[in-house]
Amino acid sequence: MDSDLIKLVNTLQDTFSNLGGELDMPQLVVVGSQSAGKSSVLETIVGRDFLPRGQGIVTRRPLVLQLIHTPVPEPSAASSESSYKEWGQFLHIDKRFTDFDEIRREIEQETFRVAGQNKGVSRLPISLKIYSPDVLDLTLVDLPGLTKIPVGDQPSDIERQIRSLVLDYISKPNSVILAVSGANVDLANSDALKLARSVDVQGRRTIGVLTKLDLMDAGTNALDILTGRVYPLKLGFIGVVNRSQQDINAEKSMGDALESETEFFRNHPVYRNIAHKNGTKYLARTLNQVLMNHIRDKLPDMKARLNTLMGQTQQELNSFGDAAVFGDKNQQGALILRLMTQFARDFVSSIEGTKVDIS
Ligand code: GDP
Ligand code: NA
Ligand code: MG
Repeated sequence: MDSDLIKLVNTLQDTFSNLGGELDMPQLVVVGSQSAGKSSVLETIVGRDFLPRGQGIVTRRPLVLQLIHTPVPEPSAASSESSYKEWGQFLHIDKRFTDFDEIRREIEQETFRVAGQNKGVSRLPISLKIYSPDVLDLTLVDLPGLTKIPVGDQPSDIERQIRSLVLDYISKPNSVILAVSGANVDLANSDALKLARSVDVQGRRTIGVLTKLDLMDAGTNALDILTGRVYPLKLGFIGVVNRSQQDINAEKSMGDALESETEFFRNHPVYRNIAHKNGTKYLARTLNQVLMNHIRDKLPDMKARLNTLMGQTQQELNSFGDAAVFGDKNQQGALILRLMTQFARDFVSSIEGTKVDIS
């Protein structure tokens, strides 16, 4: 994630929580058919390998993944457990996970425990927090894929059940929908887009993600989709190439995968010209812009809150009278509050000038 944005969001969040307000960030939710590549896309956004992925139904419970920005620990604490730069913490178990492979295994076990051994799906979410200096406070939700035919232990109405589960998450106006479709399937059949449109009629908070560009039939390409000529979405379509099953089996690293993806777009006879508007890195940048715009939309609210606080502070200061300019703790508190308020106000007006366009 972009480090400037991380800094900006953190400063804003700190400032506002000091002032008794809050900056709530949107939630990113992935939607798509089974094996479209949802978990793969989420992983690349986080930049770590830790999600179960694979053929068939792998994600069988919602995973609510809360990223929590944590400053780099002091070097003096080097020998203690807390010296790890990033770690995961589940709601269901009191343990700090510093090994991301172990996080994946715990997600698998916890899926088995509640949703059974045989392809069952449960609405009960797994809650995981990831603490890292490289993330901003953001919630991502991985969901089971949309499916049609019951398999294993799945009930006959599995299609309806998963659909209603997905709708629960994407209908919240505060969620940004990543509608993931495989490029090797006709977009007209995309359940992701159909469902996203049902809650985001104007396509304002849906980003189309087209995976598996590497698996399209020879002689076909997705240029028309990627350039927005097939399906209208304000935030557009972004093509990506994730790791194949073979790459996963061979434990291809995320860094190598990113490099292959860049090469893919750069060398492709058709996508070469739109390479700069596709790929995982561009997807991450687009998400950053969506978040910036979200923050900008919240600014009027914040300013109103600040003005109220300023008024209160002023009254408080007035009530002390002239006598006690350098007085006790109370007055010092009021003075600090006033300085902080001023700081926050300056800060807001400085980012208000930052123009962010998605085009
Ligand atoms: P999900 O079911 O939607 O969460 O999909 P997964 O992320 O689990 O991926 C399903 C399968 O598709 C895995 O075997 C992935 O390796 C494979 N896959 C996902 N995206 C791509 C892609 O862009 N290219 C290729 N070749 N395989 C992909
Ligand atoms: Na899958
Ligand atoms: Mg999945």
